[in-house]
Amino acid sequence: MSVVTIVGAGVIGLSWARLFGAAGWEVRISDPRPDLPEIAAQHLAGLPVTLYGDLAAAADGAHFVQEAGPERIEIKEEMFAVLAAHTRGDVALASSSSSLLPSAIAKGNPAADRIVIGHPFNPPELMPLVEVVPGPLTSAQAVDRAVEVYRALGRMPIRLKKEIPGFVGNRLQKVFNDQATYLVQQGVIDVADLDDLVRASLGLRWATVGPFQSGVLGGGPEGMRHLLTHVASQMTFEIGEPDPAGMDSVLDDVEAAYGTGESAYERLAGLRDRRTRAVLEPLGWQRPPAADAAQEGPETGTDSDQRV
Ligand SMILES: NC(=O)c1ccc[n+]([C@@H]2O[C@H](COP(=O)([O-])OP(=O)(O)OC[C@H]3O[C@@H](n4cnc5c(N)ncnc54)[C@H](O)[C@@H]3O)[C@@H](O)[C@H]2O)c1
Repeated sequence: MSVVTIVGAGVIGLSWARLFGAAGWEVRISDPRPDLPEIAAQHLAGLPVTLYGDLAAAADGAHFVQEAGPERIEIKEEMFAVLAAHTRGDVALASSSSSLLPSAIAKGNPAADRIVIGHPFNPPELMPLVEVVPGPLTSAQAVDRAVEVYRALGRMPIRLKKEIPGFVGNRLQKVFNDQATYLVQQGVIDVADLDDLVRASLGLRWATVGPFQSGVLGGGPEGMRHLLTHVASQMTFEIGEPDPAGMDSVLDDVEAAYGTGESAYERLAGLRDRRTRAVLEPLGWQRPPAADAAQEGPETGTDSDQRV
């Protein structure tokens, strides 16, 4: 049985563990958190998972590593130094980092050729995409291996041609989220209406066609060139930027709309997961691993809820 070492038992590490475990991998999960046994019992019940407080021991003998520790460069550097020293020379070391450059994570690391970004969207067990990002020193073999592993897990790995901070997904998301914040700060729309507006338009559209494909369709038979000259040419307004000093008040609005804490999180995650599972197959994505009801939160609210 292939062995994966997952580094970090947070939001992303636990989801990777469920995905690898459901696909038949032997999963080792390493995290110094003292409540690791309780967390695993709650979120990984029934899966072939072994728990480790010590990263070196967890890495020894692994066939693939998926790091999902804190998003701090100095911690990633430390973790990858241990991984380099305690894995075989042909083992790819993938980081889930959302935006850190692989070259920064691999700086001074003797296994720089094996370090690659495998950035999922949350939750990795349901979202098809994994961005595979090489640094300048990453070998073609490490990239190929990461792509092969993610494909075998039923994901859609997309290989970037070169590194850039934030990669592609989070650069797009940053522009979009900045504008969403700006619109709320300007008093144009409130938080929940903005979310509904997106779900009812761009979200649904982008689940079926990408932005360039959508541009082709928006122009009719004459295609995207027509759209650009006809509609987009009039969109000459300044888009503005959010005010970082006003972020607290936006966060207050978000918390008022959706709540905080364990039960709000479980309710929202459960709703998101049920909706995502429901659309994956009709949209042509691979069926996700068997759902464990315990992971999906209580059945509060129904999928017919118009607003969460
Ligand atoms: N949360 C997201 O939406 C998301 C999406 C995609 C990628 N990511 C990336 O995934 C990674 C993990 O993010 P997260 O949201 O799961 O974070 P998290 O804070 O939920 O989990 C991080 C875990 O790492 C553990 N940890 C700390 N030091 C460690 C060490 N030395 N060895 C092993 N584990 C250690 C912590 O105890 C914690 O359980 C980050 O790099 C993040 O950028 C996050």
